[in-house]
Amino acid sequence: MTTNIAVLVSGRGSNLQSVIDNIESGYIRDARIAVVISDVGDAYALERARKHGITDVFIDPSDYASKHEYEKEMMEVLKDNDTDLILLAGYMRLIGKELIVAYRNRIINIHPALLPSFKGLHAQQQAFDYGVKVSGCTVHFVDEGMDTGPIILQRCVTVLDTDTADDLAARILIEEHRILPEAVRLFVEGKLKVEGRIVVHIN
Ligand code: GRF
Repeated sequence: MTTNIAVLVSGRGSNLQSVIDNIESGYIRDARIAVVISDVGDAYALERARKHGITDVFIDPSDYASKHEYEKEMMEVLKDNDTDLILLAGYMRLIGKELIVAYRNRIINIHPALLPSFKGLHAQQQAFDYGVKVSGCTVHFVDEGMDTGPIILQRCVTVLDTDTADDLAARILIEEHRILPEAVRLFVEGKLKVEGRIVVHIN
């Protein structure tokens, strides 16, 4: 059976691209991106979706009286596309409770730091400013907290003496493009089991 994936985006969509490429190459099997949804009308991610013949939807939050109403509309789009898995790939909003409950352990986020350190925005800059010697990225299921859900995969990146924050972010991004597709593949193959806040990888 094919897993229908919805990808939520707000910006350039390089992580979306990594999933598209890994589906097209056959690394991720039995899955398709059913829809890409953006809260930003001119997000380049929407263009990427169109280039690959994927349905793209812009939902303008300012058209809705509340976050609840906005997410109700999003829920409709998710249902219309028979969504099995939601990926947050550079989606810059917190997900509301109803959506989390409806898709418990079926929403995956990519974060550019080694959680639980450096949650929230500009994580690469936060890590750089703190002076850590190692940072990286995390793929996790989304729960009610901000960047707090059960961790699926993490990858380390060494901070070099010569690095600027941008250099570090660029090297972290390379790893993001590896672990997000890897996590999607594990999910699609039914190899992830959530026990409390521990994600067990089934062989
Ligand atoms: C990535 O660094 C991701 O970890 C973070 O937002 C950025 C999105 O980049 N959540 P892109 O839109 O996937 O290129």
